[in-house]
Amino acid sequence: MDVSFRLNGKTVKLGNVSPTRTLLDWLREDRQMTGTKEGCNEGDCGACTIIVTDRNGAKALNACILFLPQLDGKAIRTVEGIAAPDGTPHPVQNAMVEHHGSQCGFCTPGFITSMATAHLNGETDHDVALAGNLCRCTGYAPIVRAAQSVEAAPVPPHMYDAPLDTAANATEHSTPTDLETFAVWYEQNPETTLIAGATDVGLWVTKQMRTLEHVAFLNRIPELATITDHETCIDVGAMTTLTDLDKVIAPHYPGFSQLIQRYGSRQVRNAATIGGNIANGSPIGDGSPALIALGATLHLQKGHQKRSILLEDFFVAYGQQDRAKGELVTGISIPKAPDALKCYKLSKRFDQDISAVCGCLWIQTSRGTVTTARLAYGGMAGTPARAKNAEAALVGQPWTKAGIETAMQAMTQDFTPLSDMRASAQYRMETAQNMLLRYWFEDKGTLSSVHEVSP
Ligand SMILES: Cc1cc2nc3c(=O)[nH]c(=O)nc-3n(C[C@H](O)[C@H](O)[C@H](O)COP(=O)(O)OP(=O)(O)OC[C@H]3O[C@@H](n4cnc5c(N)ncnc54)[C@H](O)[C@@H]3O)c2cc1C
Ligand code: FES
Ligand code: FES
Repeated sequence: MDVSFRLNGKTVKLGNVSPTRTLLDWLREDRQMTGTKEGCNEGDCGACTIIVTDRNGAKALNACILFLPQLDGKAIRTVEGIAAPDGTPHPVQNAMVEHHGSQCGFCTPGFITSMATAHLNGETDHDVALAGNLCRCTGYAPIVRAAQSVEAAPVPPHMYDAPLDTAANATEHSTPTDLETFAVWYEQNPETTLIAGATDVGLWVTKQMRTLEHVAFLNRIPELATITDHETCIDVGAMTTLTDLDKVIAPHYPGFSQLIQRYGSRQVRNAATIGGNIANGSPIGDGSPALIALGATLHLQKGHQKRSILLEDFFVAYGQQDRAKGELVTGISIPKAPDALKCYKLSKRFDQDISAVCGCLWIQTSRGTVTTARLAYGGMAGTPARAKNAEAALVGQPWTKAGIETAMQAMTQDFTPLSDMRASAQYRMETAQNMLLRYWFEDKGTLSSVHEVSP
């Protein structure tokens, strides 16, 4: 596979690359550019953070779970390219020295690249920008102070990278550019592994040591990356990243937006797609409960055949989805309605953690009576699923605490959760029930979020 990109301002052309060679391994092993560190090799620690610029701007990504073909046509800036070409340190580099933001220094290159990306984009919420970077010894206060101290400093001109035109590198099957042609080919070649953002597939290679014989990268198919904000719904292509989904969702459903902010880290959200999040069928994925609670519709395509189903019907059983061999997820339609959604993600850490339980609840009332209830949960069954008995206990009943308590009791008929390393079955059930109670309290004006109740 041919791949070209800019690396710290210089064009690099690679021929015949292995499609699952990660950028991190290539940098460190083939280029001896060892400034970019390997910590976890699974997207969790941010030691390998690099800056990638494409037509949509610059973003921080984890090099350890990025395959080289995903970078075709883009501009990469590693920690070696953060200082100016004449060696003048970047403002964030000086600030880290002045504010004592580094001790052992292992995490520092990743922090520098995340901080330089935030600086370039004028982002000042440093807690969010740095949540994907793990520091074991310095502590975050000096690092955040360093980032704050340079907010007003001008961006050094060399930081503005431009992508490359590499249309010639596209191939019909491995890096397709046309949805219809690819859908027909994929129907006949269903053993191919589709790669979207590679935040799951990357780990199959780096952690499970799997060799993927046949792969197809979906990132060059424009139809899969469209977002259309219609009057009655929002149509989102399967290749929409969580970062871009957040931008279109936030004005309509702030609760979903807050949930997306808790999804992985900035680097993960910049890579992970909503299509991959749904297609992987995970019972603890965070996107599906929210989308089910919103009544979203999933769009699929096999060859020329297109079909649409309610997202909740896509999840058949653990590891089993209503997706035929050779069928692609192409997008999702999210209905627009007056907001009644609240999302509660329960995990051991606030940032960068997988849900033990994720409850996304949509409850509408009219004149004190519940008219609609869609209570969708992750982590309570083998698939994301609705609490149908609890919903039935609510609908048509008065919107009262007593009504909520009846529905909480009914929820015991909906799920038989598992005990695992994240939570016990009893804890899962109790917290899922309490999410319903929390919705009621919040609806009545009681503050319940740690962000709201702490000073
Ligand atoms: C550090 C880290 C933190 C994470 N945190 C969270 C979190 O907080 N919440 C959460 O829900 N998830 C989390 N994840 C999981 C992962 O990020 C998501 O599931 C992500 O949305 C997957 O999307 P992707 O584009 O990276 O998919 P990929 O890894 O590219 O693909 C995932 C699967 O979907 C298939 N696929 C992809 N696109 C399509 C398509 N269009 N049609 C059919 N099949 C397709 C692939 O073949 C593969 O089987 C995390 C992952 C990491 C590494
Ligand atoms: S090495 Fe930890 S995120 Fe890449
Ligand atoms: S300075 Fe040691 S891990 Fe951050």
